Amino acid sequence: MALDRKAPNDLNAFWMPFTANRQFKKNPRMFVAAKDMHYTTSDGRQVLDGTAGLWCCNAGHCRPKITEAIQKQAAELDYAPAFQMGHPVAFELANRIIDIAPKGIEHVFYTNSGSESVETALKLAIAYHRAKGQASRTRLIGRERGYHGVNFGGISVGGIVNNRRHFGSLLSGVDHLPHTHLPDQNRWSKGQPEHGANLADDLERLVALHGAETIAAVIVEPVAGSTGVILPPKGYLERLRAITKKHGILLIFDEVITGFGRLGAPFAAQYFDVLPDMMTTAKGLTNGVIPMGAVLTTADVHDAFMDGPEHMIELFHGYTYSGNPIASAAGIATLETYREEGLFERAAEIAPYWQEALHSLRDSRHVIDVRNMGLIGAVELDPIAGEPTKRAFSAFLAAYDKNILIRTTGDIIAMSPPLMISRAQIDTLIGTLADVLAKLE
Ligand SMILES: Cc1ncc(COP(=O)(O)O)c(C=O)c1O
Repeated sequence: MALDRKAPNDLNAFWMPFTANRQFKKNPRMFVAAKDMHYTTSDGRQVLDGTAGLWCCNAGHCRPKITEAIQKQAAELDYAPAFQMGHPVAFELANRIIDIAPKGIEHVFYTNSGSESVETALKLAIAYHRAKGQASRTRLIGRERGYHGVNFGGISVGGIVNNRRHFGSLLSGVDHLPHTHLPDQNRWSKGQPEHGANLADDLERLVALHGAETIAAVIVEPVAGSTGVILPPKGYLERLRAITKKHGILLIFDEVITGFGRLGAPFAAQYFDVLPDMMTTAKGLTNGVIPMGAVLTTADVHDAFMDGPEHMIELFHGYTYSGNPIASAAGIATLETYREEGLFERAAEIAPYWQEALHSLRDSRHVIDVRNMGLIGAVELDPIAGEPTKRAFSAFLAAYDKNILIRTTGDIIAMSPPLMISRAQIDTLIGTLADVLAKLE
């Protein structure tokens, strides 16, 4: 028996992800309930959610329609095999996703997370070219500071040093574009920064170096989140699209955080009016409630596989839980909640207020940059000399004590509240953060 624990509710067994485990377990921060814009802590406090969980609860918490859909589906059809069998709910959700996707995106391949969506898209890109008779196109291009989840493909094309350096040699045949964070030129950007579109031209250099006939795909986050919010300079994504098209390279937008309304449009592809060949999604697809991801593709990508004898499997890829009935039901209820409450439009409408509130922090202590887009905001702090990340982590802990949830990466505070946030709640979030910064060492 392994139940001889030192204390009830012992915290030892759970090895927490992306967490300072020893620090946490000495002084745990526990949420025990949530409703709309707030979490309830184990000591009975209401904490305002400034991050939509992990950029995923775009409709707010414990929304009745989603809860009911999950309960009903669990009682009706709990699971159906996803290989060679189907159930109507997954087909219906795919149609509903395509209804809000950019024109030209026509197919949905289900996964269970952002990381799995990325792996799926990268594999699809290589297999697509092979199906089209261009098997030499196997190289994948990512970007410095990019975050594409934590699996081997994702960390290979990703560019966050700590997510890569501990894990061996990663995938071969990968190269990286430069990131677009140019603080000296773009500090205090409101929306798209002015400078940096030329950084897309680096793809021409990689094409010249490797040969276009070796490159399968370029993957970028339209707006990078996990690295600390990096916004695409004006004209940058358009130029990346033009160069990829010119050389027959697929363009993948990783929309795991930008999908489902974060910028005030269903997807970043619509917000920037740039159509990629594939989009990776997860998080807001089910409001974060049940794990589910999806890769969205054009007909061109999909149709390349629809060849050969009809009894043959066209793509040797998929997950036991692809299109799981309960996740699919949660997805439909989530999309209905977004639509019925006009949450994407609401995000667009409140974004200017959010922008002005955020930029009021410009003169706060230690702040060296503020930038924003849609309902995303970043406040970059001057790091403590020799102790990177410590200042922002202290801000996070102090903010939690003052009943607001923010997120930090490096010395950057990132915020991405549920799309239902009110003006008064924006004032509370930013006002409390201003207090925290005023007292921060
Ligand atoms: C752009 C992007 N891609 C992929 C992921 C990974 O998603 P998941 O944690 O669901 O695997 C994330 C998560 O934050 C993300 O921001």
